[in-house]
Amino acid sequence: MTRVLVLQGPNLNLLGTREPEIYGTQTLDEIHAGIAAHAAELGLEVDCFQSNHEGALIDRLHARDFDAAIVNAAGLTHTSVALRDALLAIQRPFWEVHLSDPWQRDAFRRVNFLHDIAAASIVGQGSRGYHLALEAIAGRFGGGS
Ligand code: DQA
Repeated sequence: MTRVLVLQGPNLNLLGTREPEIYGTQTLDEIHAGIAAHAAELGLEVDCFQSNHEGALIDRLHARDFDAAIVNAAGLTHTSVALRDALLAIQRPFWEVHLSDPWQRDAFRRVNFLHDIAAASIVGQGSRGYHLALEAIAGRFGGGS
């Protein structure tokens, strides 16, 4: 079965109450429950991991216990050479997801250390972005056992 890691960066644990006019009102647990249900339908195995710590996110990637990843690196998208290096080092394709569209927001959000190494970037679709990424992974790897 194709194994998918969903990696969630800093402050995404606050979804639901964090700037709801930008990020919506769904909590991260609700988003993860939706991802788990959809992954099961597609025949994908999924593990969702959130951390506010760059090193913990990098350590999770280093485990390499997945075939593909969905990455919302949140603010680290715009700052982290180390996360970029980890994603290159582990040699697993990843889909970049952002709930909002960072390209349409502050100028500093147009600096993006992950975009050019992602299999694809899905932005501005809210939590639907994770589901589109799951479908892309199922299409690339096939679901089922
Ligand atoms: C985000 C966009 C980033 O610019 C921001 O720092 C986040 C969330 C999003 O999902 O829209 O924390 O990744």
